[in-house]
Amino acid sequence: MCEARFKGKIALVTGGAQGLGEAVCRRLAGEGATVIVTDIDEEGAKAAADNITTEYGVCTLGMRMDVTDDFAVHTTMEMIERDFGRLDILVVNAGILRAYGIEEFPVSEWRQVVDVNLMGYMICAKHACQIMMKRKSGNIIQINSMWGKRGSARNSAYSASKFGGIGLTQSLALEMAQYNVRVNAVCPCIVLDGTREMVEHYAKTHGLTDEQMKQRYVDQVPLGRGCTYDDVTSVVAFLASDEAAYMTGQAIDVTGGQVMG
Ligand SMILES: NC(=O)c1ccc[n+]([C@@H]2O[C@H](COP(=O)([O-])OP(=O)(O)OC[C@H]3O[C@@H](n4cnc5c(N)ncnc54)[C@H](O)[C@@H]3O)[C@@H](O)[C@H]2O)c1
Repeated sequence: MCEARFKGKIALVTGGAQGLGEAVCRRLAGEGATVIVTDIDEEGAKAAADNITTEYGVCTLGMRMDVTDDFAVHTTMEMIERDFGRLDILVVNAGILRAYGIEEFPVSEWRQVVDVNLMGYMICAKHACQIMMKRKSGNIIQINSMWGKRGSARNSAYSASKFGGIGLTQSLALEMAQYNVRVNAVCPCIVLDGTREMVEHYAKTHGLTDEQMKQRYVDQVPLGRGCTYDDVTSVVAFLASDEAAYMTGQAIDVTGGQVMG
């Protein structure tokens, strides 16, 4: 890891209280960034921020921010601009998954998935861009999914919302290029580290043990192992760094070779 790649940088991560979002916060803080950990789970965001400060000795802030709430996002971004004078990195990670066959999918839940995964991305990007455009500098990274590039049976809302996220990424990249704001997405496969409930659910459905279920999944991965948080956060950190200065509008697969091209 490059120790201080993000020293002096201000980063905001959505859905940072747990899971991949928390891992992204840790990674950016570990490389020197001041991280604003946001989530609808206020206690979780504050706890994650406190733990990260203790562990890495960097300044963090934990606070509630619902990505679907335009006013709340606007207020948070205003606070960041006022208190820090800048926003260098926005990681749009907050996401939800609701899975049903289409014939039984409650419309309200389908809409909720699109609201958080796609509208939430638009709202956060809109307000972040207002700050970044003024400084002619910034970096937006959306945590997308391998299901943002191919369909997923009984998972249409999630897949559709993530496909939309790639369209948004490319469009924003075109709009923001003149302001030196880069916009990219990362498309991971299932992160076995953090999806115990999902593994348990599928194992039960298929009459397998959790370990057998994990193995069945790993057997489909050309690189022969499950995806870890580090696999994903390394790519996020790379995209957020100057090493990726000539990359914008990309959706990078982190799937152990399951998706190519
Ligand atoms: N875990 C995986 O295997 C995996 C694989 C590919 C992509 N992803 C993507 O990574 C991201 C994080 O996934 P995860 O598995 O860590 O999820 P998770 O459920 O563990 O964490 C998501 C976080 O987002 C927060 N959140 C939900 N709705 C929100 C809202 N409206 N506003 C703000 N915060 C909200 C939750 O409170 C939670 O803390 C998602 O976008 C997901 O689609 C995950």
